[in-house]
Amino acid sequence: MAHRTTLLALAALGLAHPAGAAPRPRPRTLTILYVADLGGTLEPCGCSLDQRGGLPRLATAVARVRREAPGAVLVAGGDLLFEGPLDPERRDADLVKARAVAEALRAMKLAATVEGERDLEAGEPFLRRLKLPFTSSRRLGDLGFGLLGKVPAAPFRVAVVHERGTRGALPHADEARAEGVDLILASHRDPLNDDDVDRAILDAPVPVVQVRGRGQSIARIDVRLVGDLRRGFAVLQGPAQRAEEIDLAEERARDYRRRGSAAEAGGREELARALSAKATELEERARALRAVPLPAPPEDRPSLTVSFIPVGSDLPEDPAVRRVLARAYGEMARLNLAAARARGRPCPDPARDQPAYIGVERAPLGGNSACKECHPAAFAQWRTTPHARAYATLVHSPSGPRQYDLECVGCHVTGWQAPGGACSVAAVEGREDVQCESCHGPASLHAVDPPGHIRRDPGEEVCRTCHTPEHSTAFEMSAYRKRILGPGHGAGD
Ligand code: HEC
Ligand code: HEC
Ligand code: HEC
Ligand code: HEC
Repeated sequence: MAHRTTLLALAALGLAHPAGAAPRPRPRTLTILYVADLGGTLEPCGCSLDQRGGLPRLATAVARVRREAPGAVLVAGGDLLFEGPLDPERRDADLVKARAVAEALRAMKLAATVEGERDLEAGEPFLRRLKLPFTSSRRLGDLGFGLLGKVPAAPFRVAVVHERGTRGALPHADEARAEGVDLILASHRDPLNDDDVDRAILDAPVPVVQVRGRGQSIARIDVRLVGDLRRGFAVLQGPAQRAEEIDLAEERARDYRRRGSAAEAGGREELARALSAKATELEERARALRAVPLPAPPEDRPSLTVSFIPVGSDLPEDPAVRRVLARAYGEMARLNLAAARARGRPCPDPARDQPAYIGVERAPLGGNSACKECHPAAFAQWRTTPHARAYATLVHSPSGPRQYDLECVGCHVTGWQAPGGACSVAAVEGREDVQCESCHGPASLHAVDPPGHIRRDPGEEVCRTCHTPEHSTAFEMSAYRKRILGPGHGAGD
């Protein structure tokens, strides 16, 4: 990956004080909100309830901070527009999405960002037309935001290092300090979901901050510009780090308690005692952490704190940004459907002696009965599972109709782009939903010569093709397997 160390200059923020003006009123604060690595993500798919992110919620989170800290500046670390090189089949839809990301960020009054590799996938002219505030060396009052080595002089200087998140940025911390930079914002993880965590390294030569990608969090940096600015910034632990530490200690304590009770129930008393002692120690640590007051910011020198705002499902959506998304989805659907119709059915033929998908409803070539006629009990049971409604879920998705969306359709139909399967968004008839063959495999040979030529007991690896950690956050094989079997189908007999 090309090494790009990028520092930005924020546009005028109206914070600059003309020379000779009256002494600045104190205390002076500056709140910086930081996002990065959106990778063209408008919102999570909605497949699982606890998925974070989504530009409509992100906009609400930004607006809430601004109510409390009116001058809060939103800046970005690049890689906002695309996830990676453009796939010709999705190119047009991805451009629509990138425009929607840009429009949403402009609505949130993004003040500055850097050009990441992922922003350049559709070329420079496309990028220019989006009118995003890519930084040059412009001055911006009290905040200098730009390339490492080129951050404009300002009381507070922020460098963006666009290179493998904090891992790539940390080695630049000494250099940044030598250049008078006060904070490094790290971005560009490759792939996008690598090391996808919020992280603030506060004990580095200058603090280094990384934020979760795809809009799942916002990093918030609160700066106090008081005292002698030449003394450098004190980096203080903020309420967020404290809360995180307490949560972690309490979670580990609960875990030890659980294991302790299990050990006790199993008659292993010595182990139970040891585990319970460990739990008590962690509970005491959490209590101690709560009791110690947060460090008060010093008055004789500037200081900053870092915290993270999770963009969770508890946040209401910003209706204006939701409208931007709805328009984009409509446009993407029209483009995808038109392209699919123009191309015809692109499904490949099965290789010699290999089975093809046949669907549940119709007899295959050379056979007399359909899957559902030979397996009426299994069919009836399958009809009761959510798999039998998976396509309708897209048609009636909370974000509007999404069945023509290439990012969605693959897991909500049977045999996506495989021989005999759902071939394009315009050719899903008879292959809607997660049918039998999604799990048992293509059945054309089985149906004309049963039994055999088919997977009898699909294992976890089959489920995982759709139930990825991202789309199915709660997936656990034994629990999920029970829920798709029942009388007439599998172990529930
Ligand atoms: C990689 C496969 C995959 C892709 C791609 C995918 N989904 Fe899903 N979807 C799933 C799975 C698996 C579930 C069930 C998750 C669970 O309950 O654990 C699901 C569930 C859902 C649900 C919830 C259904 C319910 O009744 O609760 C919605 C809504 C949904 N998907 C919409 C979408 C949309 C919109 C997209 C495209 C942006 C999409 N899906 C893309 C696999 C996928
Ligand atoms: C012409 C009738 C017929 C059709 C059509 C048919 N099967 Fe079967 N299938 C059978 C018979 C007979 C068996 C063996 C007895 C049993 O397990 O019910 C069988 C067994 C199976 C088994 C257990 C593994 C095995 O080979 O014993 C699976 C899984 C299966 N079928 C799935 C399907 C699916 C999925 C479809 C449709 C896509 C399908 N079958 C279509 C008749 C049929
Ligand atoms: C082709 C993709 C695909 C495969 C393969 C698949 N699933 Fe699913 N699964 C889905 C989708 C999509 C949904 C959501 C259906 C809906 O409500 O719209 C889902 C939903 C479920 C649900 C309901 C979850 C809920 O909370 O409502 C269970 C349980 C489940 N799947 C279990 C399994 C198991 C076990 C396997 C493997 C033996 C499996 N699935 C294989 C796509 C798949
Ligand atoms: C989500 C994945 C999934 C889907 C969808 C699914 N099955 Fe199954 N099926 C299984 C699993 C897992 C087993 C193994 C059950 C066992 O061994 O107890 C199984 C077993 C079977 C068997 C073996 C005999 C039996 O009933 O135990 C048949 C036949 C069968 N399925 C037919 C079907 C048919 C027909 C459909 C569609 C109408 C279907 N299955 C849809 C996962 C699935």
